[in-house]
Amino acid sequence: MLLVHSRAELDAALAEARAEHKQIALVPTMGALHEGHLSLIDLAHEAAAFVVVSIFVNPLQFGAGEDFDRYPRTLDADVAMLGGLRNPPQIVFAPDVETIYGSSTPPAPKPRAGAIGATFEGIARPGHFDGMLEVVSRLFDLVQPDFAIFGAKDAQQVHLVRRMIQRERAGLPQLIEADTVREEDGLALSSRNRFLSAEARDAATVLVDAMIEVVAAIAEDGASASQALAAGRQVIEAEPSAKLEYLALVDKSTFAPIADDFVGEAQLIVAAIVGGVRLLDNLIFEIGE
Ligand code: PAJ
Repeated sequence: MLLVHSRAELDAALAEARAEHKQIALVPTMGALHEGHLSLIDLAHEAAAFVVVSIFVNPLQFGAGEDFDRYPRTLDADVAMLGGLRNPPQIVFAPDVETIYGSSTPPAPKPRAGAIGATFEGIARPGHFDGMLEVVSRLFDLVQPDFAIFGAKDAQQVHLVRRMIQRERAGLPQLIEADTVREEDGLALSSRNRFLSAEARDAATVLVDAMIEVVAAIAEDGASASQALAAGRQVIEAEPSAKLEYLALVDKSTFAPIADDFVGEAQLIVAAIVGGVRLLDNLIFEIGE
């Protein structure tokens, strides 16, 4: 495993891999690595002989008043964790802002996220998805991967990245969507979980509880989407330390909210602030006839 910071070092390592006819898989991250990130690296190894993990806290995807300054930066621990893996990535790419954006002050991102970028996460975080797509696009340009691995955990992100790959990059890299890795009690792993107090950590399972309520209402009780969502919202509203931002059902293929007569692959998405920490989760499931 090689830790590289500059474009020249990255290019040299990638040229060597290409000379050996190795396919390249990229796992973009912001560091503060956990088992969820490691599962993406495992999938990357299954897809390609040469795996690049990028670690870059992208200023463009944080809004004013968000946690850019507070976001955990644990590069030494991340590199140690990756180096200790049975199957480490071939490269850890940890660039600075100038290496990604050509200047220490990043330019405004291209507007790519469109109407979907202004819904759900985009309501609480205006500009977030344009900033995210900008860095992902630049990482794709730098690494030219054959495969890119993203977690289903960030549902709207993976939807928008898939769309960008189709619209702007003729389907390359091939996107692999990794299942969400969870704690034993169901809480989705997240770099931000470390900010939860013990009390908030207990309360955080309310997101999963609410999602289970919605799926059970539809699958077992034959409830409509809107009835099921109302039942799910009640679960979160009953938890005093949680503030619901949204709980919604969208069509997995379009990310548009579904009607009560929807049939097909649905995605149940939820965001709530628990003990001051903003948490996201989602479940993908089939709604039958
Ligand atoms: P970050 O939050 O570090 O996440 C990196 C990748 O890990 C994302 O694809 C995310 O969906 C995935 N991931 C996070 N938690 C997961 C879990 N519990 N199970 C499975 N996968 C999980 O997402 C970002 O960084 C950034 O927006 C980035 C894409 C790197 C662009 O800056």
